[in-house]
Amino acid sequence: MKRIAVLTSGGDAPGMNAAIRSVVRTGISKGFEIFGVRNGYAGLIAGNLNPLGPRDVGGIMQKGGTILGSARSLEFKTPEGQRMAIRNLNSFGVEGLVVIGGNGSQTGGHALWKLGYPVVGVASTIDNDLYGSDITIGVDTALNVALEAVDRLKVTASSHQRAFLLEVMGRDCGYLALMTALAGGAEAVLIPEVKVTPEEVAKIISEAYEKGKAHAIVIVAEGAEYNAERLSNYFKEHQGRMGFDLRVAILGHIQRGGTPSAYDRILGSRLGAGAVEAIARGEYGVLCGWVNSALKYTPYEDVVNKKKELDTSLVELARILD
Ligand code: F6P
Repeated sequence: MKRIAVLTSGGDAPGMNAAIRSVVRTGISKGFEIFGVRNGYAGLIAGNLNPLGPRDVGGIMQKGGTILGSARSLEFKTPEGQRMAIRNLNSFGVEGLVVIGGNGSQTGGHALWKLGYPVVGVASTIDNDLYGSDITIGVDTALNVALEAVDRLKVTASSHQRAFLLEVMGRDCGYLALMTALAGGAEAVLIPEVKVTPEEVAKIISEAYEKGKAHAIVIVAEGAEYNAERLSNYFKEHQGRMGFDLRVAILGHIQRGGTPSAYDRILGSRLGAGAVEAIARGEYGVLCGWVNSALKYTPYEDVVNKKKELDTSLVELARILD
């Protein structure tokens, strides 16, 4: 019987558990034996693998995070770490690995694949910045958490006639910030992909005040040139001319800890099953993602070398709609 292993790596994302459950149960239904790796690549290097049966993944769909644990392993980036990982997989008789994660995790999967080890990726990150999947596991839940924060901030902001800077996650990609602005209604959005000066933001806020708005909301991606800290430092000196009093909220990891939405549970279930199907037919070195409303397998070479583009025209749409 063929053995396969599954790990989750990098930032945890709501829906990862649905993907683990799907890999375990579809794998077993196809006659595979499944091993779960604890704490991502760090667990692979430590040889921390355990068999997973159908009952081990019962009752996990509704939980955020990952029951397998995750990590960002520096050791795995070294050739020694990668060789140790393959040695451990071989010693457990594992013949294929499913990597559930985002950019860094799939780069790790690609490294193992280049060393000749059979790997299939599953697209999962709240950042939605992974080439080879229109949408990744965790994005929908994280977006809804950010949206709830915007709705709540608007209530208190209106009561006090205040402007709020809300910083959401997204180190290299503004997807979460842009969609939060579009779905929540914001006067301005700052993302890494589009340059906006603090002077422009100040002008937008003071115009909102002059129009008689009860509040102004600015969504900031953590990776924007002017993140919440830099922007609020600027505003400390220029507060007087904006009309509104200013407050800052940083959402941080709260976005990652949500109960997985229906969408993320379904996406996790489908991509997990898709990864097992690829292994069953002997297709490796690919990322299983969701493109044009269907499963799509993208070669790892493209996943690690190509950049997913963000539709920045939506910045203007968000601006017009508010
Ligand atoms: O990649 C997902 C992500 O949540 C990013 O948005 C964020 O910049 C990063 O992870 C935070 O990483 P950590 O959890 O290691 O602090």
